[in-house]
Amino acid sequence: MLQQPQPRHRKTDILTQQGFEKLQTATSQTAIWNYCTKSCTLEALSEQTGLSTHTLSKVHARKAGVDLRTLVRYFSAFDLTLESSDYLSPIRHGETTEPSLAAPSDGVQVTESLPPNNGVSWGLAPDVSVFHGRTAELATLQQWVVEHRCRLIALLGMGGIGKTWLATKLVEQVQHQFKSVVWRSLRSITPHSPMPFSDFLDDLIRHLAPQANPTIPEPIGAKMRQLMDTLRRKPCLLVLDNVESILPGHTPQTASRNGSTEQHSAEDQRYRELLRQLGQGRHQSCVVLTSRMEPQPLQWMSGENLGIRSLPILGLQLAEIQQMWSARRAFQGTPAEWSRLVDYYGGNPLILSIVATTIQCLFAGSITEFLRQDTMMFDEIREVLERQLEFLSAPDKDIMGVLASQDTPLSFSELRSNIAPSISTIVLLEALKFLKARSIVERTSANSCLQPLLRDYAKFFTHTKQPHDIEYAPR
Ligand SMILES: Nc1ncnc2c1ncn2[C@@H]1O[C@H](COP(=O)(O)OP(=O)(O)O)[C@@H](O)[C@H]1O
Ligand SMILES: [Mg+2]
Repeated sequence: MLQQPQPRHRKTDILTQQGFEKLQTATSQTAIWNYCTKSCTLEALSEQTGLSTHTLSKVHARKAGVDLRTLVRYFSAFDLTLESSDYLSPIRHGETTEPSLAAPSDGVQVTESLPPNNGVSWGLAPDVSVFHGRTAELATLQQWVVEHRCRLIALLGMGGIGKTWLATKLVEQVQHQFKSVVWRSLRSITPHSPMPFSDFLDDLIRHLAPQANPTIPEPIGAKMRQLMDTLRRKPCLLVLDNVESILPGHTPQTASRNGSTEQHSAEDQRYRELLRQLGQGRHQSCVVLTSRMEPQPLQWMSGENLGIRSLPILGLQLAEIQQMWSARRAFQGTPAEWSRLVDYYGGNPLILSIVATTIQCLFAGSITEFLRQDTMMFDEIREVLERQLEFLSAPDKDIMGVLASQDTPLSFSELRSNIAPSISTIVLLEALKFLKARSIVERTSANSCLQPLLRDYAKFFTHTKQPHDIEYAPR
């Protein structure tokens, strides 16, 4: 493993005119560019780069310095390589005054070589500089990556629970163990269809093996071999975010989960074959993936000694949520009320940030008042869950309905006896497996139960179920 110096984290770097223009040209060639205003919004740029709008404004203003990693991330989001003439570092050059826009800094030669993290292609990874908790998870993951040299690690859990952030933090911590690092999301901009697999392979090869000639069109098999060869030759770290996008049953259209013949299912299958090869193939690299659902190739291959591991990601702790919320205005509540709030939402930081905004806007920060209304499952939360659970089939919903109506976890036989006989045991088993694989039903215990938020959600859709919604076909 490589031992390289730690990168600088000082905020001293400013774009040169050349660097600024490079970014502008690259941005104007993307879908986020607005041809009427000849610009794009900070929000769209933030989504594309994973940098906050505040940081982006600072980069554009070119007055105050930013962390070099910010510039690297900005450039790599547009597939650009940050060169030494694209930025300038006043402190490094002993300059005391800030460069003026009227006197562009073109031509300033920066001789210091870039730090090693210039080899990271961050894609759409978020800016995780304000990060709370996850000490135990990071320690485990670091051990799996660095000591156990695992080939494939899956971070699994519900949407919004913090998988993407954890994967990004992990990369920040272990990147210097690797020669190249690439972070990519499999969720495409077009709904429900991933990037064409061949383009995806080209992109990976371009970053991991830049010496390869990308202009020669190769069959997919040859590209796969080239990728695997690269991963064998040098230690690379590859992060694949939102892997659920290529798994069966992730969209309403594929919700039948019965071997649908949609156009993109062949593409999805190629992605899944890549996962299988990444897990089984002999190589010295590490792949970290995040997914709302355990990919099937992993279910077959997981095992302590096989270099393939998965880590279920649970919510953040009360103290961590309190830290997150302390950046906002003050909240008032007793310790018991805080616990009730965080437990109910399962420590899900995304959902809790919606709750925080609601408590601030409607209850002036009073958790006590919010809880008094007894409306913890309000519309905005239900909409988030609806989007996340749009793939549920009728048997899935029936299982959730039964679990929601019981006070204690149910064994499989108890569940069976509470479900309509029209659902066969095979369909029931499959549905339960599916719900557990997606962390909707508690994964780790033999008995089945739902967390409080999902119990209330399930009660809502069992009350509104229409007779024509019921369809008990096998998957
Ligand atoms: N460890 C953390 N510290 C601070 N905020 C976090 C942390 N993890 C997640 N978040 C917040 O929760 C949101 C959702 O996290 P994310 O990693 O995108 O979830 P997932 O990938 O599981 O859907 C993030 O946008 C961030 O605001
Ligand atoms: Mg995510």
